[in-house]
Amino acid sequence: MKQKIKLGVLVSGSGSNLQAIIDNIEKGLLDGEIKVVISNNDDAYALVRAKKHNIPSVIIKHSDFKSREDFDRRMIDVLNSLSVDLVVMAGFMRLLTPLFLNSFPMKIMNIHPAILPAFPGIHAQKRAADYGVRFSGCTVHFADEGVDSGPIIIQAIVPAYHDDTEETLAARILKEEHRIYSQAIQFYAEGRIEVIGRKVRIKGSDRIPETPLHNPPVTAF
Ligand code: GRF
Repeated sequence: MKQKIKLGVLVSGSGSNLQAIIDNIEKGLLDGEIKVVISNNDDAYALVRAKKHNIPSVIIKHSDFKSREDFDRRMIDVLNSLSVDLVVMAGFMRLLTPLFLNSFPMKIMNIHPAILPAFPGIHAQKRAADYGVRFSGCTVHFADEGVDSGPIIIQAIVPAYHDDTEETLAARILKEEHRIYSQAIQFYAEGRIEVIGRKVRIKGSDRIPETPLHNPPVTAF
């Protein structure tokens, strides 16, 4: 039987990415085990999802702590007590302090609903739709001290249309989030991720064809 990596998932909200990870583990497609779900929000629907699947969860409210470090220290203690191998931020709406980042070097993943480095930070889908981009997508990356700025592990591209709203674009992106997050975690579980500076190489991964995409289609040239 394959070794399963121990995951600690940080959430703040709906937890649909958490759900996709749970489902892929239950289907036997992802060699992981969620040791704990940590939420900074006691109202997060992600907590209901964890409970339904008998996954332990802990609520750690940032407002209960005097400093960001104290809040992070509590999360570090919980994660270390369970010997978590990889921290997965899944819609976790807090910035991590250097204390947390240094406790799990290149062991914290985040997902962002845009093609980084475009549209980092909040409301990425709305900003992309309002900007009139022709493509958008999502990115899984390692967390660092910046906002959505660490080494990129995998990205997915989706088309964007002139009549997209924040909602239609976000839904199209979210579908791909649910695929690439599990894929990134599985790469990690298989020991295939090599970080060289800010670049990531996935060992044994096929090179995608050099096929350009155009939106709208180029028909005359
Ligand atoms: C996702 O769009 C994710 O990219 C962003 O926050 C959203 C979380 O959604 N960081 P969910 O809680 O996983 O449903």
